[in-house]
Amino acid sequence: MAKSNPHFPKLRREYIFPIIEKKLFEMREKYPEAAIINVGIGDVSLPLAPSIAKAINLATIEMTDPSSLKGYGPSEGYPFLRKAIAENNYKDLSITWDEIFISDGINSDIANISELFHPRSVVAIPNPSYPVYLDANILAGRKVVLMPCLEATGCLPTVPEEKVDVIYLCSPSNPTGVAMTKVELTAFVEYARANQSVIIYDNAYSAFITSPDVPTSIYEIPHAKEVAIEFCSFSKSAGFTGLRCGFTVIPKEIQVFHGKKARPLWDLWSKRQSIKSNGVSYPIQRGALSIYSKEGKEETVFQVKSYLASAKAFYEGLRKLGYTCYGGMNAPYVWWKVPSPYTSWEFFDLLLNKCQLIAIPGSGFGEYGEGFIRLSAFTKLEHVHIALERIQKLDLHGKKI
Ligand SMILES: Cc1ncc(COP(=O)(O)O)c(C=O)c1O
Repeated sequence: MAKSNPHFPKLRREYIFPIIEKKLFEMREKYPEAAIINVGIGDVSLPLAPSIAKAINLATIEMTDPSSLKGYGPSEGYPFLRKAIAENNYKDLSITWDEIFISDGINSDIANISELFHPRSVVAIPNPSYPVYLDANILAGRKVVLMPCLEATGCLPTVPEEKVDVIYLCSPSNPTGVAMTKVELTAFVEYARANQSVIIYDNAYSAFITSPDVPTSIYEIPHAKEVAIEFCSFSKSAGFTGLRCGFTVIPKEIQVFHGKKARPLWDLWSKRQSIKSNGVSYPIQRGALSIYSKEGKEETVFQVKSYLASAKAFYEGLRKLGYTCYGGMNAPYVWWKVPSPYTSWEFFDLLLNKCQLIAIPGSGFGEYGEGFIRLSAFTKLEHVHIALERIQKLDLHGKKI
């Protein structure tokens, strides 16, 4: 009989979504009339921008004509999209278009990038964090060092005390909604340069950044091109969660030991992609290109601003009610400190049963997320106001209910 990957049993994360689904189902059975507000899910809720839908439709129609039919595309993406990204996102940051690889979103690339590193590499991962970083490295059998994101450190990771080979960072962070300033990010770039480490930078929420001291790309930090790979996505900035398109930036300066010789990581990723990927579909890449048109920019910026308005309302509303919370300014998430003496799950149950609100227990993002709840702002402002009214009516009395 074939043997399975021996690292599978080491996946220790609690899979929260099936538990939440079950609780929601039970609630609906018991109270079919309940007007449940879902502020848990991190998926977009506004419809696709018309200019993007139009571009995808036109590209599909183009393919009905034999003279403009597109078959297999380049595994690294069409140059038209790579060039548009270089010009729009990296104009003054000297990233060249061939350092940009089109992806089907961040999730698969950020897991697959781990294939480029030695199995005995030591990897540092923020905790709490987006779960794929940890799970992909556990499955690869790597040693993982956790970087706790505590209130004392502003819900952000700090540079590891030991030497690590690979560092995952996510800013603005899912789940905490907190973003790293230029100063904070510089400390990691300096660490990586001193230790010859590589930073895997998840930049899924850059479109939501509003603070001037927060960089929208890690390449705004001097020398980051020598040590950092950046992962970006159109999922949240342009409603592409169901369409699937993003990009990964691998500067040619980044070197890794290949046996005893140094070799650009770019070479390894190019090779890996040519073996394992047949690229993203042509219509979807045309849709992504349309985000950079005048109409596309207006429509998608409007969507991001709407989500940010909901995040701000949540953050300010909770603070007014006397709660401690973080984020909400540069990200569509608010990280709500659970009032004592509740655990994340106990507070989740309370919110569901007393306020008919679905949120996400912070512990689902790692052990250092215990004591928090993540609220998602991918919802209408009016729902945030209703949610806050219900929360205001909660009578906690400092006791478990
Ligand atoms: C931090 C972070 N990274 C990556 C992803 C996945 O993004 P994509 O849809 O581009 O795969 C998400 C999705 O929620 C996320 O929150």
